[in-house]
Amino acid sequence: AANGNKAAKTRNIVEKMDETGKNCVVFYGSQTGTAEDYASRLAKEGKSRFGLETMVADLEDYEYENLDTFPEDKVAVFVLATYGEGEPTDNAVDFYEFITGDEPTFSESSEPPLGNLKFVAFGLGNNTYEHYNSMVRNVTKALEKLGATKIGAAGEGDDGAGTMEEDFLAWKDPMWTDLAEKMGLEEREAVYEPVFGITEKEEFTKDSPEVYLGEPNKMHLEGTSKGPYNAHNPYIAPIAESREIFTVKDRNCLHLEIDISGSNLSYQTGDHIAVWPTNAGKEVDRFLAVTGLLPKRDAVIGVKALDPTAKVPFPTPTTYDAIVRYHMEICAPVSRQFVATLAPFAPTEAAKAEMAKLGSDKDYFHEKISNKYFNIAQTLEVVGGSEPWSAIPFSAFIEGLTKVQPRYYSISSSSLVQKNKISITAVVDPKAKATRRPSPRSSRLDIRHYRPTKQVRRVHVPVHVRHSNFKLPSDPSKPIIMIGPGTGVAPFRGFVQERAQQAKNGEDVGKTLLFFGCRKQSEDFLYSEEWKDYKEALGDKFELITAFSREGPKKVYVQHRLEEYAKEVNELLQQKAYFYVCGDAANMAREVNIVLAKIIAEQRGVPEAKGEEVVKAMRSSSQYQEDVWS
Ligand code: 2AM
Repeated sequence: AANGNKAAKTRNIVEKMDETGKNCVVFYGSQTGTAEDYASRLAKEGKSRFGLETMVADLEDYEYENLDTFPEDKVAVFVLATYGEGEPTDNAVDFYEFITGDEPTFSESSEPPLGNLKFVAFGLGNNTYEHYNSMVRNVTKALEKLGATKIGAAGEGDDGAGTMEEDFLAWKDPMWTDLAEKMGLEEREAVYEPVFGITEKEEFTKDSPEVYLGEPNKMHLEGTSKGPYNAHNPYIAPIAESREIFTVKDRNCLHLEIDISGSNLSYQTGDHIAVWPTNAGKEVDRFLAVTGLLPKRDAVIGVKALDPTAKVPFPTPTTYDAIVRYHMEICAPVSRQFVATLAPFAPTEAAKAEMAKLGSDKDYFHEKISNKYFNIAQTLEVVGGSEPWSAIPFSAFIEGLTKVQPRYYSISSSSLVQKNKISITAVVDPKAKATRRPSPRSSRLDIRHYRPTKQVRRVHVPVHVRHSNFKLPSDPSKPIIMIGPGTGVAPFRGFVQERAQQAKNGEDVGKTLLFFGCRKQSEDFLYSEEWKDYKEALGDKFELITAFSREGPKKVYVQHRLEEYAKEVNELLQQKAYFYVCGDAANMAREVNIVLAKIIAEQRGVPEAKGEEVVKAMRSSSQYQEDVWS
């Protein structure tokens, strides 16, 4: 079967563990793949170091009512990312609502319900957001309230400070010690056991119709794909238009129009679109070369999970090339733990020693590898010299590398104006240096090589729509204030486009203020010509206020211009204007918040603390909305 074992699946975790002989389940709540990745690393480490019989589980695949029958001699691990403004990740919504609900109903009514449950918890969060790691904090509290026993301290990783990986590594060692003690486990010499078995399928060539070359599922392979389109079944959309909108050579920003007319997808102004990336050809080649797979790149292989609880993360049969190009996050900075696990497979003794040192010495690793944002292949290249790393079992890469995750973009068109075309405004640069991590927004997205099916050769991109709460007021006559420097202007192009259309339709449109910032008018002034058309449609209802940061001797930012408009901004807020911020979370969004509180305090003649309170209240009533990323 395309996706491995399709046998009837139980949604009862206790039953599942019983059937498969497991005594440790690692649940994950993951949005961009990092939590899922950490979950499988914990499961692997538990098995190789302590002989725990571990399994990894997507929170969405199980029910929680029977957690009260979880046996005393087993353990549950929760790896939970906090998404956006303190929300659970999509796959953890049901679990979160159940476990933190007023009175979760369990299958048996023992008291306390989770008296037998032992658990371990790690959270992934970002301290630039207000509700830092709220998922792991609230879930831990809820589990303890229901009588469960926590082992070790609940860990918290901080992506905002860029220390997620090190936070995780520092947390897990004392946790293992505690867990081993509580469960009476003995540490053993770690042994690598592959989770996946690879077999060459000589009966096929890469052109055989059964062979997957990037198609996400069977319907796509057979060319019979239909909706609903979602994270498991993206729509492979044609790109209707693609143009460069910066006017400087060394920086790129693309305006893309994605045609969804052939699908049943719909969107609303302010939503996000998920775009599934393809790894750049150069990086695919580098990976295949350094792992010694280049001569076999088009060999057709089958991949089978050797452990009944593991899932092959892509459809098979397929080729090494297709797996590496479409399914593995090979461009992300490599993790220190993964480097350590590869040491035994090094091509030379020197390389083995170097890998072990990198794996165990945090500062050394930083200096040699993470400081340079090296990905896995670059790391193997610098450590191994000219020797290919042919001894690494391919299973180790499937286990150790994150599976490719979609990147989310704020839609920059209005659904009122173009219902069947979604536009995005994206810094798309496959040549750029790797960012700290595969951020859901800023990525080395290379959509040019996507080959959706064997029949279609035009440029396509796999997408699905993610609905957001970042929305215009339903009454178009309400005033709005928008702050969107750089590509943060994306959703506001959609907002203004929509209001211009409403004005043309004869509707009464309220004051529409947009603060936009960029380096120079002549370089990166996004949509500079279009704003004139919108102005024509909206008249004095629309005002574009620009902040060009590199034109004069002093930096001018959107928040500086906002201060100049203090009086008008305050008046509009008093008329219940919605206030929107989109763009960089770490600095800009925070500074805008501070400036707005100051404006309110000054204009209303109240203390600054009161201004801050007003902004806070605006946030909780959704009068102040953010769509920010870091
Ligand atoms: P700079 O790069 O010249 O510092 C879009 O990226 C615009 O946002 C640029 O003009 C950039 O200016 C500006 N910018 C950088 N940091 C900012 C901050 N903390 N607040 C607001 N704008 C900022």
